[in-house]
Amino acid sequence: MVINNFSAHLPFGDNKIAPWYGKDILSVKQFSHDDLDYVFGVAHEMREMVTRIGTFDLLKGKILANLFYEPSTRTSSSFTAAMERLGGSVIPINEVKYSSVSKGESLPDTVRTLECYADVIVLRHPEIGSAALAARYARKPVINAGDGVGEHPTQALLDLFTIYEELGVGVVDGMTVTMLGDLKYGRTVHSLARLLSLYNVKINYVSPDILRLPREVYNEVAEKGVPQAEFASLADVLPETDVLYVTRVQKERFEDPEAYESVKSAYVIDCDIMQNAKEKMIVMHPLPRVGEIAIEFDDDPRAAYFRQMEYGLYVRMALLAMVLGKA
Ligand code: NCD
Repeated sequence: MVINNFSAHLPFGDNKIAPWYGKDILSVKQFSHDDLDYVFGVAHEMREMVTRIGTFDLLKGKILANLFYEPSTRTSSSFTAAMERLGGSVIPINEVKYSSVSKGESLPDTVRTLECYADVIVLRHPEIGSAALAARYARKPVINAGDGVGEHPTQALLDLFTIYEELGVGVVDGMTVTMLGDLKYGRTVHSLARLLSLYNVKINYVSPDILRLPREVYNEVAEKGVPQAEFASLADVLPETDVLYVTRVQKERFEDPEAYESVKSAYVIDCDIMQNAKEKMIVMHPLPRVGEIAIEFDDDPRAAYFRQMEYGLYVRMALLAMVLGKA
C-alpha cells in the first residue's frame, strides 16, 4: 500500500521504536536530515561490527529476494553480502531470463510470488516507477535498486555516507560538489542531487549539452534553495570542488548510437587534470567506469571510488536491518 510515496504496510503498522520497520525504500525523497543521521549512525556501527567480528546474527532466519532485471555487479553482490553478514540468506534472481519473467509474467505477479518466500525484496528494473509499482502489490518491503533512469536511492545514501566517512560529518554544509558526465541518464546523479539538497551545499553540473541534468531534478533542487550551475568544461570548477562525482555515459540508454559516440569520451580524469584540484578533496564514481577515470589515478589518495563500494556494504546492512525491524 503506498501513501504519499511511502508504503505503510498494514501488518507492520506504525512503529515508534523501529520507524522504518516494514517500509519500502523507493526514493531519496523519503529521507529527512534526521533520517540520514540515523541511517549513517547505524551504517557506522555496521562498519565497526564487520571490522571486529565479520558476520553476526541480527537477521538470522530472514530471507532477501534479490530481483535484478538489469545487469549489476556491486548493488546485487553488496545486498547479498549485507544479508549474509547479518546472518540472513538470499534468493538471487540475477538472470530474469531464466525465471518466469521470460514466460511473460508481470512484475506484480513476480513480486507477489517472491514475497511468499522472502521477507524483503530488492528490485532493479529498466522502467521508471517500477519499484513503486512493485511496492503497491507487495506486503513485504521493497527496496529500489535502480528504476531505469529514475532513482537509485541506496546508491545515493552510500555516496553521502562516503562523503561523511571520508571528509567528516560536519563538513557537508559549505561544500562544493561537482557532478560530471552523463547527468541525463545517470540515476545515481538524480538521487544524489536530491539528497544533497537537504544540505547547505553548492552543486556544479558538468556535462555535454545533450546529457544535462533533467529539468525536473534541477527544479526540485532549486526549490530547496541550493545554488546550482551548469558548465561544459570541468576546468571552470575543478579548483573549487570538494567532491568530484564522475559518472559513466550510459550507452544502453541511448536511442541513437551516433549520439553516444559523440559524447562517450567527453571527459577523462587523469593525474594531469587533477593537479588543478584541491589536495583535500575526493573523487567518487558509482562504477562501473568505462574510461572516464584513468587507471593511473587509482593510487592517488583522493581516489575514493573503491572505498565507496565498501561503504555500500555497511549502508545496505543498515537499510536491511531497518526495514526488517532490527535497527
Ligand atoms: C550505477 C547504476 O546502476 O545506476 N551502478 C551502480 O549501481 N553502482 C551506475 C552505472 O551503471 O553507471
